[in-house]
Amino acid sequence: MQAVVLVGGFGTRLRPLTNEVPKPMLPIGHRPMIVRLIERLARGGVDDVTLALGFKPEPFVAAFPDGRCGDVAVHYAVEPEPLDTGGAIRFAADTRGIDDTFVVANGDVMTDLDVGALIAHHRAVEAEATLHLIGVDDPSAFGVVDIDADGVVHAFVEKPDPGTEPSNLINAGTYVFEPSVLELIPTGERVSIERDTFPRVVAGGRLHGVATSDYWIDAGRPDLYRAANLDLLGDQRRFDRAEAIAADASVAADATVVNSLIGAGAQVEAGAEVRDSVVLDGARIGAASRVESSLIAGVVGDRARVTDTIVGRTGTVAADAELSASTEPPV
Ligand code: GDD
Ligand code: MG
Repeated sequence: MQAVVLVGGFGTRLRPLTNEVPKPMLPIGHRPMIVRLIERLARGGVDDVTLALGFKPEPFVAAFPDGRCGDVAVHYAVEPEPLDTGGAIRFAADTRGIDDTFVVANGDVMTDLDVGALIAHHRAVEAEATLHLIGVDDPSAFGVVDIDADGVVHAFVEKPDPGTEPSNLINAGTYVFEPSVLELIPTGERVSIERDTFPRVVAGGRLHGVATSDYWIDAGRPDLYRAANLDLLGDQRRFDRAEAIAADASVAADATVVNSLIGAGAQVEAGAEVRDSVVLDGARIGAASRVESSLIAGVVGDRARVTDTIVGRTGTVAADAELSASTEPPV
């Protein structure tokens, strides 16, 4: 089974972490998000993945130098310019000659969904497209569906105004498509699968949805990216887990690390305290500093106090500085 994974967004909400590293290559539990995603698709029977890229293919090509991720063949479709979600799917499918039932996944979704079960449901109901759905308290930041008891979607509304959502069931970003969906997407144009194509499939009466209560996070927002990492420390995930401290990180004996991940090659120096945070590979947390609820890829100076802050790969928080609810741009 082939899959197209959308990885071409700019990751603006995770800046400055995404200034140098594309969002799907950011680590979740010490491994690139995209690797965990491909492993999930593989468990559902996908053996061939096309990464749909709008820009910067190099970091992905470097991550899969032999064109494989485990048992899955990895291919690329690099758009001449970003074509939005629908345009990217059409471009990738044309590039790879996809002409059979296939899976599509947003590249920033971490979930325990059983993709094989989604495919089986899609076939059983003879849908043209089947969406994974998740119930959330505030659906307005997502695609929202109006669905009947048989699982037929009667309306798909992308990011509705708060208060106007047709339900609390949202598009969770994993789809099964028949190739006929591709005919609804013009070639070489910017097309939103959510705003343009799904309403067309709805009109044909064969857009289906399957709601599950699986673990699910869109890791494209800072708090949720942090949560997607920290959730790997407990036993919330069905298949995935991560150690708090990567094998070759260096953490001083008198440093305190609570509910946090410390990436490969990162240093946490004497007396530092790290809570509810992700320290990415190669970052440095200076002596006697305190880091709380933050994402750190750069340097936190000695004795600094950092809360609710994102420090990019080339960012430096000065010694003794106090930062809260801010992003530290590259310097
Ligand atoms: N190749 C390519 N080209 N990929 C793109 C492009 C593009 O031009 N634009 C966006 N993408 C990729 C992103 O990298 C991401 O993996 C995926 O498409 C979805 O884009 P996001 O920017 O993350 O969208 P969102 O999170 O606001 O909303 C989407 O996901 C929600 C669930 O997390 C929509 O699909 C919503 O309907 C859905 O509820
Ligand atoms: Mg997203």
